[in-house]
Amino acid sequence: MPHHPVSFALHGGAGDMPQRDHGYAEHLAALQAIGTQVQSALQDGLPALDAVEMGVRLLEDCEHFNAGRGAVLNTLGEAELDASIMGGDGACGAVAATRRPRNPVTLARALLNDGRHVMLAGAHADAACERLGISMAEPEYFIIEDRQRQLERARAHATVMLDHDEPLGTVGAVARDRHGRLAAATSTGGMTNKAAGRVGDTGVIGAGTWANDQTCAISTTGHGESFIRVNAAAQIHWRMSLGHEPMHAAAELVIQQVVDCGGMGGLIGVDRDGLVCLPMSTLGMFRAWSELDAPVRSAVFR
Ligand code: GLY
Repeated sequence: MPHHPVSFALHGGAGDMPQRDHGYAEHLAALQAIGTQVQSALQDGLPALDAVEMGVRLLEDCEHFNAGRGAVLNTLGEAELDASIMGGDGACGAVAATRRPRNPVTLARALLNDGRHVMLAGAHADAACERLGISMAEPEYFIIEDRQRQLERARAHATVMLDHDEPLGTVGAVARDRHGRLAAATSTGGMTNKAAGRVGDTGVIGAGTWANDQTCAISTTGHGESFIRVNAAAQIHWRMSLGHEPMHAAAELVIQQVVDCGGMGGLIGVDRDGLVCLPMSTLGMFRAWSELDAPVRSAVFR
């Protein structure tokens, strides 16, 4: 059996964390624990695609992060969730503006497995849960008090708050497994006080999520509209594939493009050699990672 050292990275959102002296101990503990589980599953031979789904599911279930339970709320006070997943062989699935799958990334994975369509949205995506055997939750399950208070603040200021205006954000995972296969997955509630029906980069294969076994796996976080405009995740792959750029250089350049078009954020990447990159334009990005079987590390600030 091939025995590549495994690598992975997780993110829990990028942002200009308002409390710079705050240790974010609970966020770090959650990331470190989830990272340790993902690494141990990869070391036991779990395929990269299953590992990124597992990592994102655990982050969706954790209230500290803006995805699944604890997601931010739209103008109507609803949690509308986007997610996507892609394997390095090109198989992919995505869901947008869903309100019922308990783990949106697992509905995206079911679409990948089903193979007929890449993306389902809204009420029809919700309805597909039953047909695909995906666990559902009542819309209230996703809503927590902190998010309702955050929505009140955004309404009072008549603003749409990006996921990086608060120390909370999108979640994502990238991995290289024992066979050298790559995969990426991303999940989010988007932005506080966003328009109902708005879909960000997280639901868009190529913008928020991309994987190709010959180059890299990427998951992004930040101002979704900007990441869509620069086709962020796929662009890193194409720069590596056609331009022979190393992943870290391509990733830094794409983050600069996001800034140049008025956005901000960060991303996680793993390349075919198992190297990890974690660039950001923000003050911080919740993250955990391990390169080539090294011990798991976690961090918040740049
Ligand atoms: N990056 C998440 C979003 O903008 O929805």
